[in-house]
Amino acid sequence: MKKSTVTFKNAKAEGKKLTMLTAYDYAAARLLDACDIDGILVGDSLGMVCLGYKDTLSVTMEDMIHHTKAVAKGVKNALLVADMPFMSYQTGVYDAVKNAGRLVKEAGAEAVKLEGSANVLPQVKAIIQAQIPVMGHIGLTPQSVNIFGGFTLQGKEAETAKKLIEDAKRLEEAGVFSIVLECIPQELAGMISKAVAVPTIGIGAGNDCDGQILVYHDLLGLYDDVKPKFVKVYANAGELIKNGVRQYINEVKNGRFPDPEHSFLMNKQELAKLK
Ligand code: KIV
Repeated sequence: MKKSTVTFKNAKAEGKKLTMLTAYDYAAARLLDACDIDGILVGDSLGMVCLGYKDTLSVTMEDMIHHTKAVAKGVKNALLVADMPFMSYQTGVYDAVKNAGRLVKEAGAEAVKLEGSANVLPQVKAIIQAQIPVMGHIGLTPQSVNIFGGFTLQGKEAETAKKLIEDAKRLEEAGVFSIVLECIPQELAGMISKAVAVPTIGIGAGNDCDGQILVYHDLLGLYDDVKPKFVKVYANAGELIKNGVRQYINEVKNGRFPDPEHSFLMNKQELAKLK
């Protein structure tokens, strides 16, 4: 069944946990959709796990449109959310609406996600007014890495924790349909989840959120430049891929591949005419 932002809102009311993963291409999108995942995020984490950048700051609108288009082709049922990259909305309301519109019109996203709270409330409201659903994102917001001084746990002290609770309430008032809580203590995530009616989606925020999200490459052992404590590798596809590639190299070097099963043979009579 096709999932939407309404599915997300209802899930919380019904006490059902929501599941999300990131995807950046057609093949991954099809695999996740076949598993009946609730939502797929084309995260700007693509800058790190697909493009090899050290952070997400260099990701462009063109990168996001390129990857979201590919993912959209592979998704039938999951809600498709696309990240707004750094400087596509921080520069003002006009840019925010225009760029959110591009992710929907040109790339096929059904909702957009942007980072921050008080600093981006006018943008959030304007995008929603333009009829595009918005997912909020607070806690460790990677586009603020240079302000935070690294990818570090947020909301550790009572004062910063209180601010994050207020941030979530303000985003809810502005109309977001859901909020990602990244890298904050479990107790705080639980408090935020109780304080707002919209579902919270945790990543490194413990088990009291209304749903969870992980990065596809982390879940599958495909990326280990950064290894956060909250990542669980469910299947080590990285090792499987290396084993397969090593076997291929070995068989080619030893003349065992391609074997007759994977080769084309000429008709014997036609072959004889060549001799
Ligand atoms: O870009 C991303 O993958 C994200 C998730 C970590 C929530 O924003």
